[in-house]
Formats: sequence, structure tokens, C-alpha cells
Amino acid sequence: MACQMKKILLLLLVVLLLVLNLQHCVDGTQQVPCFFIFGDSLSDNGNNNNLVTMAKANYQPYGIDFPEGPTGRFTNGRNLVDIIAEHLGFNNSIPPFATARGQEILKGVNYASGAAGIREETGQQQGDRISLDRQLLNHQVTVSNIKNLLGNNESLATAYLNKCIYSVAIGSNDYLNNYFLPQFYPTSRIYNQKQYATVLVQQLSQQLLTLHKLGALKIALYGLGFLGHTPVGLTMCRNNSSCVDNIDNAVALFNDKVVTLVNNFNNNLTNAKFIYINTTEISLSSSSSEGSMVTNVPCCEVLTNPQPQAECIPFGTACGNRSQYSFWDAVHQTEVGYVVYGGRAYRAQSPADAYPNDIEHLAQS
Ligand SMILES: *[C@@H]1O[C@H](CO)[C@@H](O)[C@H](O)[C@H]1NC(C)=O
Ligand SMILES: *[C@@H]1O[C@H](CO)[C@@H](O)[C@H](O)[C@H]1NC(C)=O
Ligand SMILES: *[C@@H]1O[C@H](CO)[C@@H](O)[C@H](O)[C@H]1NC(C)=O
Ligand SMILES: *[C@@H]1O[C@H](CO)[C@@H](O)[C@H](O)[C@H]1NC(C)=O
Ligand SMILES: *[C@@H]1O[C@H](CO)[C@@H](O)[C@H](O)[C@H]1NC(C)=O
Ligand SMILES: *[C@@H]1O[C@H](CO)[C@@H](O)[C@H](O)[C@H]1NC(C)=O
Ligand SMILES: *[C@@H]1O[C@H](CO)[C@@H](O)[C@H](O)[C@H]1NC(C)=O
Repeated sequence: MACQMKKILLLLLVVLLLVLNLQHCVDGTQQVPCFFIFGDSLSDNGNNNNLVTMAKANYQPYGIDFPEGPTGRFTNGRNLVDIIAEHLGFNNSIPPFATARGQEILKGVNYASGAAGIREETGQQQGDRISLDRQLLNHQVTVSNIKNLLGNNESLATAYLNKCIYSVAIGSNDYLNNYFLPQFYPTSRIYNQKQYATVLVQQLSQQLLTLHKLGALKIALYGLGFLGHTPVGLTMCRNNSSCVDNIDNAVALFNDKVVTLVNNFNNNLTNAKFIYINTTEISLSSSSSEGSMVTNVPCCEVLTNPQPQAECIPFGTACGNRSQYSFWDAVHQTEVGYVVYGGRAYRAQSPADAYPNDIEHLAQS
């Protein structure tokens, strides 16, 4: 009897090892030659470190759960694109443009900058930042360096750039660090919410065409989250629910137009594939399973006066039970949040997570 049991256990162990090994093969091979990242603090991994700005994260307690400590990532551990790069099979995270040198740019570059937006002026009340237009100028530099590295062979370089994944997660600051700060920006007096969503998406559309001209064919766009329900949104609104909903509704108008943009590009740009990561769906369905998580206050200490801040107080305290908190600071999620979000962006758990499909399919297409 005991012998029989041992045999069964041994068999189970062999099966388990086989499964683990197969999984390792799937996740272990790099699926695309390169991964280029555009956006804001959701993706930034050090581009703001040497800028004069309040939108920085290269001090404690940021990085408290990251092996290298504070790096400029706006969370306690790995950020959104670190998780996606891991799923894509990259051994190392994609280097920030600020420090990327030599051959390493062949794996891709991260241009993202905290406080940056689609609009040039977005985030200026925080200080310097690299707007999406300037991120695209930086990408132009990378593209010409990649051409050089590939022996100045134009068609070889284009074929290479065509195979990469391009991640564009931007727009939150055009709301939180522009439209909803009327004391600093006139946009809410010039445009109603619908008009503002239209002008933002028109500008984004031009920026994506520029990216496409630089060889991008596989582009993932991310919808914006419920910005009214972030701790900074709740503080700005003094917990007034109609104010909170007003912010969320403005953002939903933007998201709807991004989906239309994805459809238009997929219909009109031959060979290009655009996908939309449905942040709304992912946050709605994951919050229902969050249960006991703290979702309305940040884990780290954040200043709320005179202006509600997004970032942790430098060298301030942080909660010990970080996996119990959705928000690390007043706008950015904890690593556990990014693991869920990045995981579902890569491999959709429900059909609504990604449209028309997920990053894994984009990589394989
Ligand atoms: C990643 O690392 C593993 C183990 O260190 C190595 O076998 C593999 O070749 C590396 N993959 C790439 C794409 O560099
Ligand atoms: C560029 O690379 C392609 C593909 O490797 C090759 O067929 C072509 O001859 C190269 N062109 C030049 C000018 O070297
Ligand atoms: C909003 O509500 C939370 C939780 O009830 C509370 O901790 C916080 O102080 C409130 N904020 C404001 C600005 O009233
Ligand atoms: C709540 O917010 C709404 C919309 O911004 C505003 O009209 C209303 O006066 C606010 N209520 C309170 C009690 O501040
Ligand atoms: C692209 O295709 C859509 C249909 O999805 C069409 O309505 C639109 O006018 C086309 N042109 C552009 C420039 O988007
Ligand atoms: C995104 O998710 C929301 C909420 O589940 C859903 O209503 C919407 O249709 C989804 N959008 C797309 C483009 O799939
Ligand atoms: C997390 O820890 C703090 C103090 O360490 C405690 O007050 C709080 O209740 C804990 N939260 C959860 C969700 O466990």
C-alpha cells in the first residue's frame, strides 16, 4: 500500500516537474526582440531621476521591495512594464532612455516620464518632465542608433523595429495634472469634458502616427483607471462622491475615444496592430476580489496640504502589510496591483480585458 502510494507520488512529482519545465520554456524564451515603452509614472523607471521636478521616486520608501532599492519606479517593487517585460520573457527590465547605452538599446528603451502627458504643458506645475512629443523625439534618436548598430541597412532595421512591442500608457496626467487643476491650467475653461477628450485623442492619434512612421506595428494602448477613486482624487474631492464620479466620467469619455482610435487604426493602417488594454474592466473585476484590501488610502505617508500630493513624503513611513493595500502612494498601485494588471494585460483573463486581443497575441502575431 505504502509502496503504491510512493509510486503515485513519484508519478505526480514527474508530471509536476514536466509541467513546470514546460511553463519555464514558454515564459523563458524571449517572445519579441524588443520592447519600447512610452508613458508616465506608471511606466517610468528612472527617466525623472535627474530632472528638476517633484515627480520623482528615487528616494525611500520607494523601492522598499525592489532588489536595487529606490530606482525611480513609482511603487514599492516592480512597476507595470516590469511585469509585462517579464511575461514577454525579457531577462532584464528595459533600460530607461536616461541611461541606456550601446548594444542594450536593441532590447528596447523605456522613455516614460512621471507627470508627463499627451499635452506639452501637462505636469508643468510639478517641474520638468518628458512629454509624449519629446519621448517620440528620443525614440527617433534610438531608431537612428539602432540603424547604425545594424550596419546602416535600412530594410534590416525596419524589419527589426516592426517586430517589437510598443507600450503607450498615458493620459492620466492630462486629467490630474492639467484639466482638474483649474488653478494652474485653463483647459477646463476652454473645453467641456467631451471636447477635451476629443482634443486629447486627436493629439494622441498624431503621436501614434509618428510612432508608426518610425517602424512600430505592434502597439498596446492602455485605458485610464478610475482617477476619481485614487487617494489623490478622493482628497481633491474631499470625499464628495459627485466630484469623484465627475472625474471618473471625464476619463471614461477619453477611454471610449481611444477604443474608436484602435478600430480606425486597425482598419486603415496596413500591417499595424493596435490593442486596447481595458483598465476599467480589470480594475472592476479585480476590486470585487480584493475584499479586505485597503483601497482608499495610500500605504506610504503623503502630504495632503496645501495641495494634495501624489508621491510619498521623502523618507516618510510606509505600511508594513503592503500586499493589503491597493495604493502605494496617492496615485500609484502597489506591486501586487501591477502584477494583476500587467498579468491580465499580457494574458487576458476575461474577453473584456483586452481588445481585440491581449499582449501575448500581439507578440505572436
Ligand atoms: C535569460 O537567462 C537564462 C538563464 O540565465 C539564459 O539561459 C537565457 O539564454 C537568457 N535569455 C536571453 C534572451 O538572454
Ligand atoms: C540588408 O539586409 C538584407 C537582409 O539581411 C539583405 O538582404 C540586403 O542585401 C542588405 N542590404 C545591404 C545594402 O547590405
Ligand atoms: C476621506 O475619507 C477617508 C476615509 O473615510 C478619511 O480617512 C479622509 O480623511 C477623508 N478625506 C477628506 C479630505 O475628507
Ligand atoms: C460636491 O461636488 C459637486 C460636483 O463637483 C459640487 O457641485 C458640490 O457642491 C459638492 N458638494 C459639497 C458638499 O462640497
Ligand atoms: C479609418 O477607418 C474608420 C472605420 O473604422 C473610418 O471611419 C475612418 O474615417 C478611417 N480613416 C481614418 C483617417 O481614421
Ligand atoms: C471594457 O470594460 C468595460 C467594463 O467591463 C466594458 O463595459 C467595455 O465594453 C469594455 N470595452 C471594450 C472595448 O472591450
Ligand atoms: C496594516 O497594518 C496596519 C499597522 O501596521 C494596521 O493598522 C492595518 O489594520 C493593517 N491593514 C490590514 C488590511 O491588515
